[in-house]
Amino acid sequence: MTRTPLVVGNWKMELSHKAEVELARSLKTVLKNVTVTSDVVVCPSFPSLPAVSAALKSSEKLMVGAQTIHAAEKGAWTGAVSVLQIMPFVRWCIVGHSEQRALTHETDAMVQHKVDLLLKHGITPIFCIGESAAERAAEATTQKITNQIQTLLHKAARTTLTKVVIAYEPIWAIGSGQTPDSNEVAATMLLIRKIVAERFDPEIADRLRIIYGGSVSPQNIQQFMAEPGIDGALVGGAALHPLQFVEIIRSVQKS
Ligand code: PGA
Repeated sequence: MTRTPLVVGNWKMELSHKAEVELARSLKTVLKNVTVTSDVVVCPSFPSLPAVSAALKSSEKLMVGAQTIHAAEKGAWTGAVSVLQIMPFVRWCIVGHSEQRALTHETDAMVQHKVDLLLKHGITPIFCIGESAAERAAEATTQKITNQIQTLLHKAARTTLTKVVIAYEPIWAIGSGQTPDSNEVAATMLLIRKIVAERFDPEIADRLRIIYGGSVSPQNIQQFMAEPGIDGALVGGAALHPLQFVEIIRSVQKS
């Protein structure tokens, strides 16, 4: 089974509205002469979704995603943003990012609920999982990943797994410049596929796209992509620099 590679740029809250729109335009320009065979998604802040999606409307190479949604479809939640409000602008949405989990005390069950909401509205969830530094030190990574995947699979139908992307992001690797060895990442991807295969079947596990995130750069991406079972990257810091992001896209496609 050949899985289409996927590169996701997570712009977090790093740029002004103006800078986000400019970044979208620059990326479009830089990608003009690049053959893009992977899925490429950029995730700006909520207020910039309409303008970035308008700027990329004519682009066949770049898609737009959101960085999270609220767990309720609608209601009296001051300051929150629902799936119904991002729908016109996105085809993708990150859920369960460790920064959101920390900020909003989001549990695995809430993240699972968000996955259902997104799928109901035809948006592809990018489901983030990963262990903390303390969990890694306590050699509890396997347990943590197993629990997080099992929560996702608990109520999921087989078809859900054909529509979800998993992003494995060790929390300690995010924004730190540190990464796990690529063979450790490959082993975690294998663990995830094994759990999915046991719950459903090997075919669905084989179809599932799993990407790596955490301090991905043009310098280290090749080593991850050289491993089997790593289908691309969720990129934070390097996604803010068009040339670096495009370099990562090229490396992902070369593998
Ligand atoms: P980073 O962020 O690439 O800056 O480590 C990745 C992420 O948080 O998704």
